Amino acid sequence: MYTEKVMDHFQNPRNVGEIEDASGVGTVGNARCGDIMRIFLDIDENQIIRDVKFKTFGCGAAVATSSMATELVKGKSVQEAMTVTNKAVMEALDGLPPVKVHCSLLAEEAIHAALWDYAQKNGIRIEGLEKPKTDISEEEEDEAY
Ligand code: FES
Repeated sequence: MYTEKVMDHFQNPRNVGEIEDASGVGTVGNARCGDIMRIFLDIDENQIIRDVKFKTFGCGAAVATSSMATELVKGKSVQEAMTVTNKAVMEALDGLPPVKVHCSLLAEEAIHAALWDYAQKNGIRIEGLEKPKTDISEEEEDEAY
C-alpha cells in the first residue's frame, strides 16, 4: 500500500537528528494519534535554509513525509519553503494511502512552526505564514480516520 519512495524514506529517513542553537525550532503534535514532530532549521544571513533536521515520535508515514519535507526545504529560502506543502511532499513521494494523508500535515506544520520561531526571533515577516498550532488534530475531518 505504500509507494517505493515512501518505503525508502521510512526505512532510510534523511536528516534525522537535531541542530544545536538552531535558527528556528518547531514542534507540532496530533493529539488524536499521539504523534509528535520536531523540526530544526539552520538559516543563514540571506534567509537560506542551510540545514534542517527532524525528530519524531510518529508513524511510518510521518517519518517518510518528514524526511522528504526536509529534503525539499534544504537549500531553499524561507519564502520558498512556504511552497513545501503536504501536497507537494505527497507528490514527491508518489502518493500516500488516503488514511495516512493527515500524517503528512505534521511535517508541513512543524516546518511552519520552525519558520515562525525563526521569524519571531529575528523580527521578520514571512509572507503567508500564520501563527502555528501545537496540536493539528482539531482541524481534521473525522473521515480522515
Ligand atoms: Fe499519527 Fe501518522 S498516525 S502521524
